[in-house]
Parts: sequence; C-alpha cells; structure tokens
Amino acid sequence: MKIDVLTLFPGMFAGPLDESIVKRARQAGLLDLRIHNLRDYAHDRHRTVDDRPFGGGPGMLLKPEPLFEAIEALAGEQTRVILLSPAGRVFNQAVARELAQQTALLFVSGHYEGFDERVREQLADDELSIGDYVLTNGALPAMVIIDAVTRLLPGALGDDESAHEESFSQGLLEYPQYTRPAEFRGLQVPEVLLSGNHAEIARWRAEQARQRTKERRPDLM
Ligand SMILES: C[S@@+](CC[C@H](N)C(=O)[O-])C[C@H]1O[C@@H](n2cnc3c(N)ncnc32)[C@H](O)[C@@H]1O
Repeated sequence: MKIDVLTLFPGMFAGPLDESIVKRARQAGLLDLRIHNLRDYAHDRHRTVDDRPFGGGPGMLLKPEPLFEAIEALAGEQTRVILLSPAGRVFNQAVARELAQQTALLFVSGHYEGFDERVREQLADDELSIGDYVLTNGALPAMVIIDAVTRLLPGALGDDESAHEESFSQGLLEYPQYTRPAEFRGLQVPEVLLSGNHAEIARWRAEQARQRTKERRPDLM
C-alpha cells in the first residue's frame, strides 16, 4: 500500500511511524509512506498557505491554491483522498478494514480553522474524524489512522500477533487475557484457561467478550 500525507508539520511524523509494526511493515515493503510539506506547494516569497475567511470570523483557513496543486500532484488514479476533519465520519475498526483494502491513500491534514470548502467539494473522496474533540492539526489523526490500517495489511503482524480476536474484530470488545505466573500475589488465573480444554476456553472467552461489551459498550451490541 502507498500512503502519502500532506501536512504543515512533517517533523511530527518522525518517531511514531519509525517504530514497532509500522516500521517493520515499511522495511518489508508492505507500506510505502511519504510525508509531504504543504508549504512546498506555495510559491510566494513567504510560502503562504492560509488566509482569512470571507464573511469574517476568527482564525485562518488553508487556501485552495497550494492544496489543489499538491493533491493533484500527489494523487494518482487509484488514490483515495482523505481530508482529516472533526466534521468527518468517525474513524473506527470497520473503516480501518475498508481503508486496508485500498492501494493508495492520501491524507490531507488541516491546521488553523481547517480548509477552504472547495477542497472538500472538488478533491476529497472521504473525510474522517478520529473522535469528537478538536486537535490543533491533522498530524496525530493521520498517524492514528495509518497505524490502525498498517497492522491490518496482510503480513504486517508477526506469527505471535493476531488481528482476528482483538477488540472490535468480531464487533465486541476483547475477552480478558492472562499470562504466567498462574498465581500472582494471591491472584489466580481463571481455572478454565489452565484446563487445556479448547472448546471450554473458546466458550468462556466468547461469554466474557459478550459480558464486557454489554457492561462497557452496550452501543456495540
Ligand atoms: C483546529 S482544527 C479545525 C477545526 C475546525 N474549525 C472545526 O471546527 O471543525 C485544525 C485541523 O486539525 C485536524 N483535526 C482536529 N481535530 C480532529 C479530529 N478529531 N479528527 C480529525 N482531524 C482533526 C483537522 O485536519 C483540522 O482541519
């Protein structure tokens, strides 16, 4: 998969995407990730990317010209262009699975008060929010989505890791998990997990997942 990100803060991406599973996926050639500075597409002396909103009001908006030039240069035929915005549809595991099927994504990260509406109308295939709160810019949302999507790419997770049974994969939260020792400070691991009876274990886990989801996230049921 190819992922391009258009941002005013390329420096924010160094670190989070150079570690762990995303790093491995990049090294293995599963993910071709490129970060682009929006200012490189502004041609005046000050490399201006923003301006005041028509009609007045606080803050600045990202201007259409650098965004149009950058998106048109970076997006190919197959690219899904995704604006990051608190007004977008809310990102979740189902959307992560949907994006993991694509061949190319371009994330357009906003700043200030957001984008000139014509960018949304003319160039965006999708608009995503990572939740009902407002961040200063779209770099963190882009990284969150890239992380969630990358671990779903075939081959990205090692043998010891699995995306099949974790939270949301079956529409439920994950069941409780334990590792050694079987007793720690008097706290026992549930007997069934030590039984070696795989059918019983599967039944217990399914019931725990159902109960936990009902208690914590009834909206998922
Ligand atoms: C300060 S926010 C702009 C908020 C905008 N004025 C509004 O009320 O919707 C600046 C940029 O951060 C990004 N952003 C902030 N919160 C976000 C969220 N919850 N999900 C996705 N992107 C977000 C977007 O790219 C947005 O354009």
